[in-house]
Amino acid sequence: MPLMARAARLESEGHTIFQLGQAQVDYEPPSNFIQALVEACQSREHYYHGYAPDAGTAELRAALSRYLALSFGFEADPENEILVTPGANHAAYTALTVLLAPGDEAILISPYYFNHLMTVTLLGAQPHVVETPSKGGFIPRIEDIVDAWSPRTRVLILVNPSNPTGARYPDDWIRELAAALARDPRWEDVWILSDQTYQEIYFSGDHPVSPASILRIRERSITVSSFSKSFALAGWRLGFLTAPEPFVDQCLKIQDSSVICATYAAQHALARTLQQEKDTSNYLAEKRALLARRRDSLLRPLREDGEIEVQTPAGACFAFLALPDGTDAETFAWELLSAQRVVTVPGDHFGRGWNSHLRLSFGRGTEVELEEAGRRIVSYRKTL
Ligand SMILES: Cc1ncc(COP(=O)(O)O)c(C=O)c1O
Repeated sequence: MPLMARAARLESEGHTIFQLGQAQVDYEPPSNFIQALVEACQSREHYYHGYAPDAGTAELRAALSRYLALSFGFEADPENEILVTPGANHAAYTALTVLLAPGDEAILISPYYFNHLMTVTLLGAQPHVVETPSKGGFIPRIEDIVDAWSPRTRVLILVNPSNPTGARYPDDWIRELAAALARDPRWEDVWILSDQTYQEIYFSGDHPVSPASILRIRERSITVSSFSKSFALAGWRLGFLTAPEPFVDQCLKIQDSSVICATYAAQHALARTLQQEKDTSNYLAEKRALLARRRDSLLRPLREDGEIEVQTPAGACFAFLALPDGTDAETFAWELLSAQRVVTVPGDHFGRGWNSHLRLSFGRGTEVELEEAGRRIVSYRKTL
């Protein structure tokens, strides 16, 4: 946050800032969404300005059920297995509130998404962190996850594709993990919370495999996701949680006693967007191609320089760089901002042991700007 505040101050003083810090995308939302939203706001139907049903509108849950089958590879009953939430963070927060009591343990994969760590800690539970090898695409070892079990373990949290590494866990890796968890009796009562906020952002092949699509662990899988990134709708707060009915029932109580519902008009617009399947699929394919070009533009100068280790992100909109040995990423990030006006996030925000890594987001900026940002990182590196 202090780094972002300094960047904002520099910007207000007239400096051009290269923003690789925030996990936001800057492209336009689908035009079908904007059109349906405007129509809802202008219509005489006053209910668009009121509370929506707590679990989400029937129209949206039906559209989500179909979308899940197409993009996540599993079916969910729109009546009782889907909860529309104001974003994936609130979905994860709700699920973890249901699951965790003080003293319980949640297994996180490091580098982790820090909001998950904060939620676990806020609930008085203990994070149990499994480290990921930094080589080979940031894929954790399945045996390390299985061995992290303790009698207090309640949930394993996965983020795929990953924030902050941009790793996409191979489909077979997900299947092997599911098989390992299913055959180990200690894991019988442990839930798997899969955060698939970046499910639509992958750069080759098809959608990542969802744990909930694997029969042997389906009954203990919770999936959360959102449209903040895929449809560039972060401000409209639209996400969902899907899980077996008794679990969704418990989540509904948390939602009802906290935010109540997601915004009605936005739910309506999202349902209309998802119903236009061909337009949506074209939109998503276009944005994937755009992000792949942005990724390549940003990383090109770093690759040419060759002094900073760059693993190619297979999904999401992040690269996680290994700085030359002995470089402290926190100092690097501050000085990079002062000297070259590039905002990044130091790796230790995503777990201890990553303090020589740096997260770069390529969700914002043109290809030209991103290439220039990459060049500036190299220029600063050369001064060390
Ligand atoms: C892994 C992950 N989950 C959840 C979120 C939050 O998404 P939402 O805007 O849907 O709450 C983010 C945002 O950066 C994220 O990276």
